[in-house]
Amino acid sequence: MSLHRIPVVLIGFGNASRRLAELLLERSAIIEEKYHSEIVCTAISTSKHGSIASDEPIDLGKALEAVRQGKKLSSLPGTVPVNDAFEAIEQSRAEIMIETTPLNIKNGEPAISHIKRAFDLGIHVVTANKGPVAFAARDLRLKAEAGKLCFLFESTVMDGMPIFNLVERALPLVEVKSIHGIINSTTNYILTAMEKGNSYEAALTEAQACGVAEADPSLDVEGWDAAVKASVLANSLMNADISPDMVSREGITSIKAEALRVALKKGSKIRLVARIEKRDGKIIARVAPEEIPADDLLYVIDAYSNALILETDLMGTIAMVEQHPNLTQTAYGLLGDLLSIIWVLFR
Ligand SMILES: NC(=O)c1ccc[n+]([C@@H]2O[C@H](COP(=O)([O-])OP(=O)(O)OC[C@H]3O[C@@H](n4cnc5c(N)ncnc54)[C@H](OP(=O)(O)O)[C@@H]3O)[C@@H](O)[C@H]2O)c1
Repeated sequence: MSLHRIPVVLIGFGNASRRLAELLLERSAIIEEKYHSEIVCTAISTSKHGSIASDEPIDLGKALEAVRQGKKLSSLPGTVPVNDAFEAIEQSRAEIMIETTPLNIKNGEPAISHIKRAFDLGIHVVTANKGPVAFAARDLRLKAEAGKLCFLFESTVMDGMPIFNLVERALPLVEVKSIHGIINSTTNYILTAMEKGNSYEAALTEAQACGVAEADPSLDVEGWDAAVKASVLANSLMNADISPDMVSREGITSIKAEALRVALKKGSKIRLVARIEKRDGKIIARVAPEEIPADDLLYVIDAYSNALILETDLMGTIAMVEQHPNLTQTAYGLLGDLLSIIWVLFR
């Protein structure tokens, strides 16, 4: 059987996207066998490493090597430099765009504009960037629907954990009444490390070193990342139309090691918890440190682990736990979305 060649454009080639590139290289044979498809990259855009497009598939192994060596992507043979992400999208002739630029907490840009440009050109979109779904979910969904295009974002909240797939595909008609959980790995890691006697600063440095912390870690410790994720969850699973500034927010910067030790002595733990509820028909979302008793499902969620608990009408309480996620899970979330689109396109 002949292979479908699927051109993709990578907007952002940082931690998540580079791990995706590795997975695409590692798994190409099984993707060809199971999906009868060859995924080829025809354009890449970054901030400091330049942006390129190519008529021929870009060698992702060489692209990874160039970035590792601090070289410009335009050093890759057969590629032409382009000015920016928009030009990369336009020149890519891609079927699917993978958007992994950093989160912009103010308004979700320029990722929202990247995605709109892709939809205008008939390109399906996969993103790990929470900003677009937190600030423009409804708008982007309508644009995707109008163009009969896919807009998938499984990696935005709990890396590769299939939250959105679960609710959309496996729970038809089920209404999500409320959501709560621990959804920020960096703060959970810092609080767990401080309980063990480590300093706040050392724990944050470790979270940054392994690529889990946001590029700007104040987004994690001040609760912004969790607030943005709460918006994504509310907008996607509870049909809300809120933005992160509508989420009441308190971070972990004022929590002292002493408070964590006192809680532990009482048999509880302090963790940053996100809650989304419907009150009088209105969606209320908040992020704040909470004292979690030992009999709570969230009590065992330590270090980088995350957990999300959905209260539903027909399926009661559903809990999802992600133990010690790393970049592979984030990249897998992107790969899973990519393969879902390929499955829809060529089934
Ligand atoms: N890392 C995780 O574990 C994780 C988990 C879930 C979700 N996410 C989300 O996924 C996204 C990517 O995360 P990451 O860890 O891969 O971030 P990252 O390592 O900081 O990579 C971001 C990439 O975007 C590029 N970039 C920045 N501005 C750009 C622009 N205007 N046009 C084109 N490229 C631009 C950067 O270029 P340079 O390479 O030149 O700097 C870099 O390649 C973020 O939105 C993050 O919140 C990450």
